Formats: sequence, C-alpha cells, structure tokens
Amino acid sequence: MDRETLVLGIETSCDETAAALVRRHPDGRGEIVSNIVRSQIEEHRAFGGVVPELAARAHVVHLDAIISRALEDARMDLSQVDAIAATAGPGLIGGVLVGLTTGKALAAASGKPLVAVNHLEGHALTARLTDGVKFPYLMLLVSGGHSQIVLVRGVGDYERWGSTIDDALGEAFDKAAKLLGLGYPGGPEVEKAAQKGEAKRFDLPRPLLREKRLDFSFSGLKTALRLAAESVAPVTDTDIADLCASFQAAVTDIVAVRSKQALERFAAEYPDSAPTYVVAGGVAANAAIGGALRDVAARTGTHLVVPPPALCTDNGAMIAWAGAERFALGLTDGFDVAARPRWPLDELGRGAA
Ligand code: KG4
Ligand code: ZN
Repeated sequence: MDRETLVLGIETSCDETAAALVRRHPDGRGEIVSNIVRSQIEEHRAFGGVVPELAARAHVVHLDAIISRALEDARMDLSQVDAIAATAGPGLIGGVLVGLTTGKALAAASGKPLVAVNHLEGHALTARLTDGVKFPYLMLLVSGGHSQIVLVRGVGDYERWGSTIDDALGEAFDKAAKLLGLGYPGGPEVEKAAQKGEAKRFDLPRPLLREKRLDFSFSGLKTALRLAAESVAPVTDTDIADLCASFQAAVTDIVAVRSKQALERFAAEYPDSAPTYVVAGGVAANAAIGGALRDVAARTGTHLVVPPPALCTDNGAMIAWAGAERFALGLTDGFDVAARPRWPLDELGRGAA
C-alpha cells in the first residue's frame, strides 16, 4: 500500500492497559503519534504477581479512557484513523477479550477495518518502527511471559529457534525475588541487590547449556537458588546480594551463550545478510544482560538493536505498528476472529517480506 496510514493500537494481554496511534509512511517508515500506557503494578503488588481476574477488571475500568487519551494526545478522532488493531493473543484470556472486543466495537461503529494482532509479532516488529530494521533478522524476546529466540523473515513469517521449556526469564527473576523476600516486579529488585553482591560466591547451574538446542530452562536454577539460600539461612543482606549476583551471572551466561549460538546459525543460513539481533521484553532493561549481549554482538559482527525501554515492555505502539504493517499488506480480520490464550508466532498467517 503506497499511501500514508494511521492505525490505532490496543494492548490488554497482560498487566498494561495501553493504546497508541502510529503512522506508517508510504516508504515503510513508522512514527509514533501518541502512546499511552497504564501499568497495573500497584493492583498486583500485594499478590507478588499478576492476578488474571484483577487484570481483566482493571482493563475494563480503564481502557476507554486510555484510548480517548491516545486520540486526544494526537489531537485526532476515530474518523481520521485508517484501521484499528488490537491484541488477539497470546496472553491472559480475560484481558485479551476486553481489548479485542473493544477493538471490534470501535471498528464496527466507525466502519474501519480491524487487524487482530499477535502480541509477539508486536514485539518482533517494533525494531522496524524504531530503527527501520530490514528482514531477515533474529529476535531475542525475554519478558515476564516469554523467552524465545525467533527468526523474523517477514510480516507473519516467523520461525521459532528456541524457547523456554519451563519458566520465562522475567518470571525466573520474579520468583527469585519472591524467594529472597524482595519486592515485585522482581527483575529490577534482583538487579539492584546484585550490584552489591559477589557473583562467584554461589555456583549455580546453567541448565541445558551443554546441549546444542537453542531452548532455555530456568526452573532448575530457581531450585538451586532456594537450596543455596537455605544453606546459609538465616540470610543476611550480604547473602541476598551475593545470591542475586550469582543468579544474575548464571542467567546472563545462559542468554549470552544461546545468543552466540543463534547468531552463528543465522550467519550459516544467511551468509549474505549482515546479522541484526533485536532484543525485546522487560528483561532487556537489565544492564548485566545488556552488557553481555553487546559483547556477543561485538564478537560476532552483529548489529544489536535494543529499542528504548518503554517500547521493549508492553505498549500500544507495538500493536498499532504491527497492525500498520499487516494493513499495508492487505491483511485485515473479520469480527469473528477469536481471542487466543496461546498463539505461537510460527502459526501466524504469512505476509510478504
Ligand atoms: O515485557 P514486560 O514488561 O511484561 C511482560 O511480561 O509482558 O516484562 C516484565 C518482566 C518482569 O518479569 C520483570 O521482573 C522483568 O521483566 N524485568 C527485569 C528488569 N526489569 C524488568 N528483569 C531483569 N532485570 C531488570 N532490570
Ligand atoms: Zn509482551
């Protein structure tokens, strides 16, 4: 499609209620016009994790106002929008239903086309919005719900090279924090404590690392952390700092080794493409992991792309942009499209590269 398009994006698959307006220029460049995110961290903090029923209810309460604010911020109304994109999965089904149903209602009322977006595709395509990255490239997605390495060949065209066989990396950070009595969300708390800790004090395992497959496993590490904590109980602040540093060092090693293997495979399969490695998800904010990824990128001649933190974590702009990319290829959805709790990227409809 060789005209400028404006897409409204709605995201409600986890604990962020978000809406955004994104413009796609005819040459494929993207531009965020407005981007409003309301985090539900306060609703869930007391429970040490996301409570699905509370999340769905908070989306119901706040989504309309968030969408209005996204339009107001852009000084626009729905009549100026070309398409409405909403996350249709994967995610907590109650929340996905709220956003997708709202998207359908707005599309029906305004007569605009609907684009049902896979949340993971939103993360995968963000680097094209922020950095104009060209296909093919590799993506590392490390969030509270996902840990995967994905080959991105085109819009709707993905190949999962590895994923976690148990906990997601962000989830592992959250569980480690909970175990050590730190706050929620756990990632930033563990990172802060680790800064004062001695990473060599506890020898924690690096599960699966000797195997060639590109999968991750973090639940054994969590058990090892618990046993290490019990071995020095009652734990002091120094113990907690050392446990956090040892845990962070273990997961950093795992992510670095897997990334290097994946980039080697990419180089073998695409000898003529300069490798680009895109990092997405909340864990991308971790400085130790970021530093290790920069080292791997430097050693393998890879262009590392880490979108700004606000676009690495869940937001509406990533959904609006994925919607705009699909819409540009003529990919829209009927009102019978279903919300999906599970929806692997490799099961997406294929667009054109
Ligand atoms: O992408 P995200 O905001 O939400 C989804 O899971 O969709 O990721 C949140 C996850 C949480 O598990 C959080 O603990 C983790 O990212 N996280 C971090 C850091 N900041 C957030 N993990 C490690 N280090 C951090 N600095
Ligand atoms: Zn996400």
